[in-house]
Amino acid sequence: PTITFVDPAGRRHIVEAPVGKTLMQVAVDHLMPGVAGDCGGCCSCATCHAYVPSPWAEQLAPPEEDEDMMLEGVIDRRPTSRLSCQIAIVDALDGLIVELPAVAG
Ligand code: FES
Repeated sequence: PTITFVDPAGRRHIVEAPVGKTLMQVAVDHLMPGVAGDCGGCCSCATCHAYVPSPWAEQLAPPEEDEDMMLEGVIDRRPTSRLSCQIAIVDALDGLIVELPAVAG
């Protein structure tokens, strides 16, 4: 699937995301600003914070309790906030648009 990351300056980074990876891994592989993935994806650092706007947000399972708790601590949490390590790439996400945070969580 093709995914577009939009950085805080509005620049679009279009990448090919392998099925089976997480959104965090794809962002890190492509050195997307603002996504660090410090904990390696075990939902304990929130440095993979990103925004998934509508209509894509509705395609995803809502955050589990541990993700929701970690999101409590991020800078500039919004209704569209997600931890990108908790989002698995599947074919249905082709065309996904992800907005990168201005400040790393
Ligand atoms: Fe640490 Fe997502 S990479 S919470």
